[in-house]
This record gives sequence, C-alpha cells and structure tokens, in this order.
Amino acid sequence: MKTPQMEHIALSVAGKKTTVPIYIGVNIFDEINSIIDLQKYSSVLAIIDKNVARHWTDRIRKVLGENTFSITIPSGEKNKTLATAEKIWATLSKKEFDRKSLVINIGGGMVCDVGAFAASTYMRGIDFVQVPTTLLAQADAAIGGKTGFNFNGLKNTIGTFAVPIAIISDTSFLSSLPQREYRSGFAEIIKHAVITGDGLFDYLLNTNFSSPANRAQYIVPLLEQSTNIKCEIVRKDPYEKKERKKLNFGHTVGHAIEMASKGGLLHGEAIALGMIAEARMSFLSRYLPENKLRDIENLISKAKLPDKIKSLNKIEVLNKILFDKKNSHHEIKWVFLEDIGNVKVDILLPDEIIDEGLDYILK
Ligand SMILES: NC(=O)c1ccc[n+]([C@@H]2O[C@H](COP(=O)([O-])OP(=O)(O)OC[C@H]3O[C@@H](n4cnc5c(N)ncnc54)[C@H](O)[C@@H]3O)[C@@H](O)[C@H]2O)c1
Ligand SMILES: [Zn+2]
Repeated sequence: MKTPQMEHIALSVAGKKTTVPIYIGVNIFDEINSIIDLQKYSSVLAIIDKNVARHWTDRIRKVLGENTFSITIPSGEKNKTLATAEKIWATLSKKEFDRKSLVINIGGGMVCDVGAFAASTYMRGIDFVQVPTTLLAQADAAIGGKTGFNFNGLKNTIGTFAVPIAIISDTSFLSSLPQREYRSGFAEIIKHAVITGDGLFDYLLNTNFSSPANRAQYIVPLLEQSTNIKCEIVRKDPYEKKERKKLNFGHTVGHAIEMASKGGLLHGEAIALGMIAEARMSFLSRYLPENKLRDIENLISKAKLPDKIKSLNKIEVLNKILFDKKNSHHEIKWVFLEDIGNVKVDILLPDEIIDEGLDYILK
C-alpha cells in the first residue's frame, strides 16, 4: 500500500471521523492498484470527462484493467446538471452495481463534483475516488467533500457533503489541458495564498510560476502547498460553519459573474475577477493596504487571468449575488480581507462599497 503525501480528517459520518489520503505526483495514477484494492469491489465504474477520454482512454483502460466499466460525460459547466447525475445513476443501476461498488471520477471539477454527487446518493452512498485532471480540480475542487450540480441557473444549488476514499492528483494529465484551462487553475491557488498569507503568497510573488517553460518544475510544489492549505481549513471546519467560509473569498462576486457570463468565463477566470472586486471592497473599507491590493492584482496578471470584464450588467450581477445560497434574508455576507492572511467572514458591506467594487471590474 502506497503512503499518501497528505491526509485530511474529513467529514464525520455517523459520528465516525474519516481520513482521506491524498496523493500528488507525476504518473501517480498508474499506481492506483497499489493505492486502492480494486479487487475488493464487486464492480468498478470509471466516469470520464469526454476531453480526458479523447486524450487518455488507452492509458486509463490499461491501468484500470478490462473488468472496469466506463462512461464518458460530455464536458463543460453546462453539463453539471441533474441530467448528468441521472445518466450516471442509470448506468450504475443498469449494470447492477451494488453497495460494494466503486466509482472513479476522472476529470475536472465538473466530473469530480457531479460524479461524487451521483456516487454519494446511489444506494445512499457508495465508495468513490477522485482523480482530478485539471489544475483547478487538483488544487481545489477534488478536495474537501463538497459535491453537487447547478440547478435553475444557480451554482451548486443541489449537493451533498461526501468524502472520497482517496484523491489521486496526477500532474501528467495536465499535459493535455488547454492553456486557458491551465491558467484558470491558478486562480484557486492564488486564493489559497491570499487567505492564508503563509509562504505560498511570497512564493508566488517571487517565482515565475505560470510560465509554460517553468511549470513542470513548480506545479508539484505549488499543488502540495495549496492542498495543504485547503486541507488545514477543511480539517478545522468540514461543514462550513465559519473557518471554511474563508475559501469563498472571491466567490461571492465570482459565482455571480460566472453565471451571468453564461459560459463566457471559466470558473477560475470569474474567481480572479471576483477576488479583485472583493479585495477592492476591502481596500475601499480602509482595511486592506493599497500595496496588498496591488500584490493580488499582480499575481492575477502574472497568471494571465482577466482583471476586467466587458458586457456584464451590474444589476444582473447583483441579482445573482443576492440569490447565492451563501446569503440569507437578502443580506450579502462577504469574505473580507483585513490583510493578506487576515480574513473575516460574514461581513456586511455598505451598498456604495459593493457598487464601487463591482465598477472596478465591470468595464
Ligand atoms: N467541490 C468543490 O469544493 C469545488 C471547488 C472549486 C471548484 N469546483 C467546481 O469545479 C468546476 C470547475 O472545474 P474545472 O475548471 O476543472 O472545470 P471542468 O471540469 O469543466 O474542466 C475544464 C475543461 O477541461 C477539460 N479537461 C479536463 N481535464 C483535461 C485534461 N487533462 N486534458 C484536456 N482537457 C481536460 C474538460 O473537458 C473541460 O472542457 C466548477 O463547476 C466549480 O464549481 C468545486
Ligand atoms: Zn472556486
């Protein structure tokens, strides 16, 4: 049995704490048989993102063996739907998967979220493994036990908390990732750096982490640091009572513009814009020093992520913010930066500050 690089105590199920082992490395997926005893499962279903299947089917088949079933899921956020969950349930049911079966999600945050949701609800929950294949999913989406899909025009409205039996982040999958998707993943890494302010923030400021020539050298250490931060926060507050809300920095505005852009913006791009708007609000409230706001903007531009967006309507963005599931009674609860690494949650802000923060990115 391979020793994981990291573990996080995740959600407690029926009073029992569960530990999730996390493996990060190049070609680590090829070692799945020494990480998980696949033979002990009555059946195994690999749920594979269509673009991942296009590049990696032969490898996946070779590693998982002939006895593993597989289905491909059409790619993109527009398929993070109930219909996709239904398709997975239908396959599990048609192939007579029982409670001792295993699901392996192989794809970005979309497949990891909806595949995990389907597994966590089929027969009240069967085991699943996350094999994230985008930088964004390796840095963030696959970790922490949140599953779900979009519903009625709103992000992640339906979902569960459920933990995988393992997370296998194999950076070799990133070689087929389009550049724009790659850049999108840096947004969540920058978010982790901003909210903790530990070594990762300076590391990002002082390295040329996003240049394609340097990535091979930086990506595993970046993922290890980023994963550690997310695990630490989830360990303290698995069910998002308080501490975990820090991870929503940039997401109040980010989710709203992601939905308002109707597919025009990738998740990470929307979060980059959301972080700038929310950091600006923190600056306008006379907390975040101006040079720190500039540092955040520098990191976002270093990662070649957008800092302005044209053609979005402010009223529509505000309406999406108000209907976000994080808010209640028409009050917007902000994640607020007093400084890098000093984050307050559930903060109410005056309308003028919100307006100015949005004006800063909506050009
Ligand atoms: N559960 C959580 O805690 C959490 C946290 C952050 C984000 N998310 C969710 O994650 C999603 C975004 O994740 P994402 O950016 O990975 O999006 P994604 O899953 O849609 O993948 C992005 C694109 O990359 C393609 N792709 C994936 N792996 C590839 C590979 N190795 N080679 C080539 N193409 C590949 C996909 O087909 C897709 O077109 C959002 O739905 C977001 O809400 C969830
Ligand atoms: Zn996110």
